[in-house]
Amino acid sequence: MARLVVRIDVFTLFPEAFDWFSRQVHVTRARDLGTELHLWNYRDHTPLRHAQVDDTPYGGGAGMVLRIDVVCAALEAVFNVPAERVRETRRVIELTPRGRQLDDPLAGELAQGDLCLLCGRYEGIDERVANLVTDRVSIGPYVLSGGEIAAQALLDAVVRKIEGAVSNPESVVGDSFSERLGGALEYPHYTRPAEFRGWRVPDVLLSGDHGAVERWRRERLREREGHSTD
Ligand code: ADE
Repeated sequence: MARLVVRIDVFTLFPEAFDWFSRQVHVTRARDLGTELHLWNYRDHTPLRHAQVDDTPYGGGAGMVLRIDVVCAALEAVFNVPAERVRETRRVIELTPRGRQLDDPLAGELAQGDLCLLCGRYEGIDERVANLVTDRVSIGPYVLSGGEIAAQALLDAVVRKIEGAVSNPESVVGDSFSERLGGALEYPHYTRPAEFRGWRVPDVLLSGDHGAVERWRRERLREREGHSTD
């Protein structure tokens, strides 16, 4: 598990989109343990008149593009160094469907140090953001209306890796895709009632035979792969 206390800065046009996420137990625990979560609104730092942050795309086409001068101004206001130097001290991550797809090893890697997330909206951020970032991350091959949901998915997975954020570390070490499970999906879980509408919990789980339970769980580790209806 990650030992470093991390500082997380999120740049977005909609900081309020993170209200619910910020109140989740593992997030408040991580904060109690020293992880800082800062939310910044690009609009508060824009050098443009009328709080402008975006513009029409060169070459024409639909939608609006978040301006690179606005992104730089926000980074420089917060970190007090030229925007392109922020990535010298932390991972600077643009959330974009064009990025590397998030997976458990990447979440573990990102939990090792400070993070700065850049959320786009509309058609995304001006491509010259490539000069500012260390990573471009996607949460899947589909297009969301903005980076906020993707940033929260990434942060949820990352914060679970911070030691002490999840009350029972066993539940993280044995998560689906974890090293302990060799990257496999976790076995299925059941709870009371043992029978409901004729749907029975597998007998072995009620047997009290810990060895048999362990064997049953190991056998089921990979069973769900490719079964999208499960
Ligand atoms: N922004 C829009 N769609 C996205 C996706 N799939 N992943 C990350 N950021 C995004």
